[in-house]
Amino acid sequence: METDRPPENKHHAPVRSFVIRGGRMSEARKKALAELSREESLDAPEDWGDWYRPFDRRLLEIGFGMGHATVEIARNCPRWGLVGLEVHPPGVARVLQQIRELGLANLRVVRADAQEVLTRLPDRLLDAVLVYFPDPWPKKRHHKRRLVQEPFLQELERLLRPGGMLNFATDWEPYAREVRELLVKRGWHLEGGEWSPRPDWRPQTKFERRALNEGRPIYELVASRD
Ligand SMILES: C[S@@+](CC[C@H](N)C(=O)[O-])C[C@H]1O[C@@H](n2cnc3c(N)ncnc32)[C@H](O)[C@@H]1O
Repeated sequence: METDRPPENKHHAPVRSFVIRGGRMSEARKKALAELSREESLDAPEDWGDWYRPFDRRLLEIGFGMGHATVEIARNCPRWGLVGLEVHPPGVARVLQQIRELGLANLRVVRADAQEVLTRLPDRLLDAVLVYFPDPWPKKRHHKRRLVQEPFLQELERLLRPGGMLNFATDWEPYAREVRELLVKRGWHLEGGEWSPRPDWRPQTKFERRALNEGRPIYELVASRD
């Protein structure tokens, strides 16, 4: 008997790639989240093009977690515009707080399910999509919950400009192999040999540090489109 099947499947609700987890939040972060203002978030997908316009590169990170790498990229690359998508409230709150404290004009946060937002974004909006350590959903019956599947890649092909890239990293080898196979099948160009070198601008993420501390290797993919 499959007791841990999410109840929503019984009602044919969409299959989600996440489960909202709790997490303690300081008063300051609760306040930041409550005030999720127009200034730091991009609510309407039609506003994204305007916001990205002044920047040299337009990046979207999906599932930034607590956002340590996200904030570091924004700090290190002020000419790049970075939007972070996340559903985990403490992570959204932390990044909002950092945007304010550090005055990061090139970083915006959207608290939303990527699977809903991507379909509403205009064609050829982005230069790069970053997906770091997405939930691996290791059980076979949960594979359908994985974020990166063929429909997701199809959506990225619409959203990326010619030459645009996907940077994917995980410590879960079967997931990495599956994504690699899909990219090859769909005609993306992969950097490096079997796995790509880590881009020099990509900081380590929290989940990556944990994997390395526990002795697991990292599988990196940098793939681009014509
Ligand atoms: C395993 S964590 C990795 C976090 C971070 N990238 C890191 O490497 O430390 C995966 C994150 O993806 C988020 N996530 C999963 N599906 C998502 C979706 N459809 N839209 C937005 N965020 C999502 C989860 O909430 C979670 O915080």
